[in-house]
Amino acid sequence: MQTVVISIGGSILVPDDDDKSYITELASMLNELADKYRLFVVVGGGKIARYYIKLGRSLGADESYLDDVGIEVTRLNARMLIVALGEHAYHLPAKTFDEALSASKGHKIVIMGGTHPGHTTDAVSAMLGERVGADRLINATSVDGVYTADPNKFPDAERLPRLKYDELLKICLKVEGGAGPNVVFDPLGAKIVARSNIETRVVHGRNLAELKKAIEGQDFHGTIISE
Ligand code: UTP
Repeated sequence: MQTVVISIGGSILVPDDDDKSYITELASMLNELADKYRLFVVVGGGKIARYYIKLGRSLGADESYLDDVGIEVTRLNARMLIVALGEHAYHLPAKTFDEALSASKGHKIVIMGGTHPGHTTDAVSAMLGERVGADRLINATSVDGVYTADPNKFPDAERLPRLKYDELLKICLKVEGGAGPNVVFDPLGAKIVARSNIETRVVHGRNLAELKKAIEGQDFHGTIISE
């Protein structure tokens, strides 16, 4: 049985845009796929995390405290997916990779949020991918792949269907250096998938048909990052 880690941004799971229908359909698709694949899902914080982080910062909290706030929100979001998945899922967001691994012995699907301050759930999904020996990592995000520039700002930006790990890393570092939240993948996550050679697929997470193809290792609309 192949192992797949799926990273779902909070901006996909809970953007406050018909979230109930989306989460219900996503859960039903994952429950179906869980008969064929060992699945791990890492859930991000989205705008709820950003709201608390901004509010906490304005009240004087330090950055690692705010990271802990963000982590708590990722776990709250994770609980929503757990509720929708029902009996096939481990009933709590796993807090460590060891807990995720143990939980996967008795459950078809294991959900996590963040782990430690200093990185994002992209990095968590990459590390979890290493720990569970993932065949691939799916980054279900709010763009339909990696682009030459931010497609929201540059209409002539082109989607890159295939990338090598070092090219992804260059793009992540370049975007981060240029400031702004639109980093397609956390640079730490990019380093980790490269060192462990985990094929990584970027797909629009609200497009369930393409997400399913990406999970199953089929041709899909997005970007494949590999050696
Ligand atoms: P996300 O993984 O959602 O970060 O975690 P993000 O990339 O900023 O959000 P999206 O992808 O645009 O929705 C939310 C916040 O939680 C903290 C960080 O502060 C992060 O920005 N966090 C999360 C951690 O500190 N450690 C973790 O392992 C995960």
